[in-house]
Amino acid sequence: MHPTLNIAIKAARKAGDIILRYHNQIDLLTIENKAANDFVSEVDKAAEDAIIDELKYAFPDHCILGEENGEILGNSRFQWIVDPLDGTTNYLHGFPQYCVSIALYEDKEATHAVVYDPFKEEMFTASKGQGAYLNEQRIRTTHTRGFENTLIGTGFPFKAPRHLDAYLDMFKAIHPQVAGIRRAGSAALDLAYLAAGRLDGFWEIELSIWDIAAGALLVKEAGGFIGDFSGRDKFLETGNVVAGNEKVFKEILKTIHPHLTSDLQY
Ligand code: IPD
Ligand code: CA
Ligand code: CA
Repeated sequence: MHPTLNIAIKAARKAGDIILRYHNQIDLLTIENKAANDFVSEVDKAAEDAIIDELKYAFPDHCILGEENGEILGNSRFQWIVDPLDGTTNYLHGFPQYCVSIALYEDKEATHAVVYDPFKEEMFTASKGQGAYLNEQRIRTTHTRGFENTLIGTGFPFKAPRHLDAYLDMFKAIHPQVAGIRRAGSAALDLAYLAAGRLDGFWEIELSIWDIAAGALLVKEAGGFIGDFSGRDKFLETGNVVAGNEKVFKEILKTIHPHLTSDLQY
């Protein structure tokens, strides 16, 4: 395993320990509203601080973009992108679907990724060109040939309600063609599940870069496809994401296309 990936795994485990330490004492946590329906607790902050400490110790000159601390500047060739707790709303309700997400981008290309579910002890990892793994076992996306019998992941645009009508139109178009649609509440884990073949496809509107940065490399290294709503690669900028095995990726793009408003083209 690449030594850089090892550092990221170590950081994710430290954050995971903090998350688990409080998971059955949620009543004791101070919870703040960052924006409508956007919550943060001291667990998110402590987990991010632990990750930053670990990354800074190993790579003192790298940039780190974290959801809670914003950007720590450094050598701009190396940028870590961190979501210390993806699925905070789940966590705060004791709904056990959340994770730590850490990615390294070198010259704007993803090179290492970790998505760690501390509750289920599932460590999803990928390094560019080396494949994707779950607890050190190789994982791959599914081989379904279209929508038939597929399970699709998604997220509701609860932070961007202006897109709700467009989203519901997409949902109505996809729903009758597939076996099921799941909204599990952690986009980073959704992408990891897609990489592991537990989902066949995924789409969501206006995610943040830290929700997607690690999951995107997992999907690609597992043989899957990920893009923006035009199928191209602006998804880290727009947060509009479609992912899947090759066939399901194309089916989702084709199906949502008629429902894209002017600000959802990419
Ligand atoms: C959220 C989760 C959720 C997605 C939201 C994200 P957070 O991240 O990934 O699945 O629908 O848009 O913001 O706030 O729990 O880190
Ligand atoms: Ca997130
Ligand atoms: Ca978060």
